[in-house]
Amino acid sequence: MMTLERAQQELDARRQKINPCYKPGYHLSVPAGWHNDPNGFGFFGGRFHLFYQFHPYDSVWGPMHWGHWTSADLVHWQDEPVAMAPDQVFDDYGCFSGTSIEKDGRFYLMYTGVQPTGEPNQYYQHQCMAESADGVHFEKWADNPVIDRSMLPEGASVYEFRDPKVEKTAEGYRVILASQGPNGGQLLCYTSKDLREWMFAGVYADHLADMSECPDVFELGGKNVLIVCEIGADAKLYGAPQVTLYTTGHEENGAFCAEKPLKLVDQGLDFYAPQTILTLDGRRVLIGWALSWSHIMPTHTLGHGWAGMMTLPRECTLDENGVLCQKPIRELQSLRRDEVHVENLSVQTKTALPQLDGKQREFEISIDMKDARSVSLNLLETDDERFVIAYDRAAEILRVDRSLCGYPLTEDLSPEKKPWCEAKMPLKDGRLKLHMFVDGSIVEIYADEGRVAMSSLAFPKGEAYGVSIEADSEVCVCADSWMIGM
Ligand code: FRU
Repeated sequence: MMTLERAQQELDARRQKINPCYKPGYHLSVPAGWHNDPNGFGFFGGRFHLFYQFHPYDSVWGPMHWGHWTSADLVHWQDEPVAMAPDQVFDDYGCFSGTSIEKDGRFYLMYTGVQPTGEPNQYYQHQCMAESADGVHFEKWADNPVIDRSMLPEGASVYEFRDPKVEKTAEGYRVILASQGPNGGQLLCYTSKDLREWMFAGVYADHLADMSECPDVFELGGKNVLIVCEIGADAKLYGAPQVTLYTTGHEENGAFCAEKPLKLVDQGLDFYAPQTILTLDGRRVLIGWALSWSHIMPTHTLGHGWAGMMTLPRECTLDENGVLCQKPIRELQSLRRDEVHVENLSVQTKTALPQLDGKQREFEISIDMKDARSVSLNLLETDDERFVIAYDRAAEILRVDRSLCGYPLTEDLSPEKKPWCEAKMPLKDGRLKLHMFVDGSIVEIYADEGRVAMSSLAFPKGEAYGVSIEADSEVCVCADSWMIGM
């Protein structure tokens, strides 16, 4: 039997034994075991809350629990007791993803309970509630599920029905849910006056590849934004078949009307299932899971005892063309230490910048390309490995490649099929400007005023974490960089 007590004991025992070699220092990551999606991102009792899909018994996915962190500033986080274990008939196979909401001074979690059907490897998915007075200890409702398979519209799968995004409306509450219907992935909307009695309100979005997951909807800059994960997406278009996409539009008769084709939220190799909140000062802040279902985690195969981390919290805005822009929240600047400047350094042949080395670093680099057609920045570098960020001026492509960096993310350590990703971006005034974060085994890159965000994992075998730059003809480099300390 999976209980909260057992999960907590297991976590406390395992956290002493992990190998921290690839552990990030300032990105949120599971103390031990496995974690995937951010869940229940919210604000209650004067603190931010972030929960996460979590398996305490191994560093691979397993019966899902909810782990829990809280924070006053979205930067310094505190571990809280495990919030939920799959310990009821209605969630016996797992407490899958969901969101949180405050109502009348109490904190509610709405999540997907996964219950065996009685047939081998077959599970019903339905929506359940848990509530808390103190924001730390949660009690599941005895009359769960609150939205079950009898409330699905015709043609919707009873096995693929998950990830409730609950929110307050003028009339009460509504929830947007991922489902699989006659046209593939779809989002369904349910409404309620009290969070307890729910009614099917309609299909919110349709034709979303084979299956959709983890929807988020919010208002930003006068538009409605929809974020949704797709399984079976057009890999040619998006670089991978399982991706996180967004579009802008408006709502009409309870449905989302997109004004543009779906686009990637983050063009990196490792990003999925983000959630957002509105901060008290009105910023829309997003946190994603910095991993992907498409590869294994070396921290598991190497026996390090943990796997999974979150992206940095990012402030979202829309530019004048409705393109999503993401910038690391300004609170992160409080972690900067030991500032280093590189002033107008002329570079052509490969030049190491030892003053920028480090396992936990932030960089703001501006490269005057002059007449150069290409420039490469090598991070996590030792004599024989490097994480390459290359810009091709003619194609206006920024390319990230981890193929030369440490452990391939494959079961048998054979080369990864697609260890690279790309983003289209122009130079600004002839300069390539990159804002980058290195933290143990993650590199996050922000560029083009936040229109480009790329999160990718890499597991260098060496400990050097060096930096170098090379170009096909002379370029001029300026950089500000900081060690990042908690
Ligand atoms: C997305 C997801 C969700 C599900 C959860 C299970 O990564 O597959 O759809 O609720 O993970 O852990």
